[in-house]
Amino acid sequence: MARTYKRVLLKVSGEALMGDKGYGIDAHTVDFMAREIKDVLSMGIQLAIVIGGGNIFRGVQASLEGMERASADYMGMVATIINALALQNALEKHGIPTRVQSAIEMKELAESYIRRKAVRHLEKGRVVIFAAGTGNPYFTTDTAAALRAMEIGADIIMKGTKVDGVYSADPVKDPHAVKYNTLTYIDVLKKGLRVMDSTAISLCMDNNLPIVVFNLKGKGNIRKVIEGKKIGTLVRGSNDTGAKKKNR
Ligand code: GTP
Repeated sequence: MARTYKRVLLKVSGEALMGDKGYGIDAHTVDFMAREIKDVLSMGIQLAIVIGGGNIFRGVQASLEGMERASADYMGMVATIINALALQNALEKHGIPTRVQSAIEMKELAESYIRRKAVRHLEKGRVVIFAAGTGNPYFTTDTAAALRAMEIGADIIMKGTKVDGVYSADPVKDPHAVKYNTLTYIDVLKKGLRVMDSTAISLCMDNNLPIVVFNLKGKGNIRKVIEGKKIGTLVRGSNDTGAKKKNR
């Protein structure tokens, strides 16, 4: 089946790398992800990834426990760099050329974030992993995903999660929770649905960038989203179909 999107930004939470371990990085889980990514690259898409760090350090949690928020967030950003290097390693084991760009300069470890260079890498068929969030405290990696997606002209943000979409309530706790197939940005903000934080959603809304929330653990799910199959929950403006129109 043909692909629906050409350039895609995949948001992977740090927790997605820890598998069932509860902390850190699970090699089998990272390898599974690398295989899934290899599969979709064969469709000719350009793929950028923003990775979180919650499997190693949760800045928000630490600030709730009394740590200064900015320090806690910087520690979280460093955690994303560890994850980015792990994912790069797994992808390269599968022969996928990958570049890591960090929003916090760490030049012995990774390239610094340069938008035009990131786009060139994508055009050359390399996966680009954006690490260290936006480089600023008080911004989540979801907001970094929205920002980078806009900067590189992505067609869509694919937000990989542990559940198969957005529900009206927590499906684990509430048996009456229903899954939404589509939502508008305004729905998400008004209902306070936990798709992404409100800064990230607002950024997507202002720039009409669609988001698909889907289960990253399911085999073949990344491919299904790119083929335009109806899985997960599509978040978009009220009058569009989810395919971003733009010139490239
Ligand atoms: P082209 O310019 O298209 O050839 O891209 P390229 O990434 O292959 O070339 P470049 O010479 O820029 O990079 C070669 C390798 O060095 C790649 O693996 C880059 O990720 C890496 N690299 C480039 N700049 C830096 C940097 O500032 N720090 C680190 N740690 N690695 C870098």
